[in-house]
Amino acid sequence: MLVTRALPDEALEPLAAAGHEVVRCTGDAPFSGDELAGLAPGFDGMVCVLTDRIDERVLEAGAAGRLRVVANAAVGYDNVDVPAAARLGVAVCNTPGVLDDTTADLAFLLVLAAMRRASDAEADLRAGRWAGWSFTDHLGRDVHGATLGLVGFGRIGRAVARRGAGFGMTVLHHTRHPTGVPGYVARLDQLLGQADAVSLHVPLTGSTRGLIGRRELDLMKPTAVLVNTSRGEVVDEAAVIDALHRGAIFGAGIDVFAHEPAFDPRWATAPHAVLLPHIGSATIETRVRMGRLACQGVCDVLAGRTPPNLVRG
Ligand code: DGY
Repeated sequence: MLVTRALPDEALEPLAAAGHEVVRCTGDAPFSGDELAGLAPGFDGMVCVLTDRIDERVLEAGAAGRLRVVANAAVGYDNVDVPAAARLGVAVCNTPGVLDDTTADLAFLLVLAAMRRASDAEADLRAGRWAGWSFTDHLGRDVHGATLGLVGFGRIGRAVARRGAGFGMTVLHHTRHPTGVPGYVARLDQLLGQADAVSLHVPLTGSTRGLIGRRELDLMKPTAVLVNTSRGEVVDEAAVIDALHRGAIFGAGIDVFAHEPAFDPRWATAPHAVLLPHIGSATIETRVRMGRLACQGVCDVLAGRTPPNLVRG
């Protein structure tokens, strides 16, 4: 087994329990495409992370050797060419279900922080710009009583909905297909126009890439905030930065970026932006659960079992 990045020891227990020989990378730098293509044929299974680009070339190289399964230790798997894997007979696993509440906590943290302008206020304090308590400085928007609009209503979206309801928000959600759950809004445009906080919970696919651009931002209330904990490419970043400068929206809470780890420097000066470096699932407990589930998926496939976390492309 190849484990491409530093994972917690506990996460690797299923591999050891199944008696697999494990080559683990202890460093934390991602492999290049050439390195992955060179390594893939020599392993039966690979446990990777979202910064590893498991494209057709890597899969072809792997399938020409011993590779039978790739487990991505993330719920999103846009870094893996799933159709190519299916064609080449390489199984793909991910880590659904074990990071929902952790990611929802972070998404709601961003709702709170963006609406209450926490980053601006903290930056002023740290930079010595706080002249003292003021009636009119750092004014945010009330979270209680506001409307939360969720775009996507899978496990994470639903977990954010529970948090919104707990904070006294009215919760709406939009998906392509009716959910039958109260708060469903059939048209994205309508949800964008009604919400005080819009939070994105869709996977990155051909139909969600660039879902939120200038047109959609202009449909939002100028008093509303946008929160993204899904994938950076779901929004047009330049359009969000521009909307913040124009005051077309009140603020943004952003945990994911289009070209990670590259970071458009214009974010740093965008007004009312709360910015985090893709830490949605980053808790000790959840990272162990994610790693274990990915490793268990590899073990299942190699033992001829169908893992519950098999991606069906
Ligand atoms: C995922 O799992 O897809 C997250 O983005 C990383 O936690």
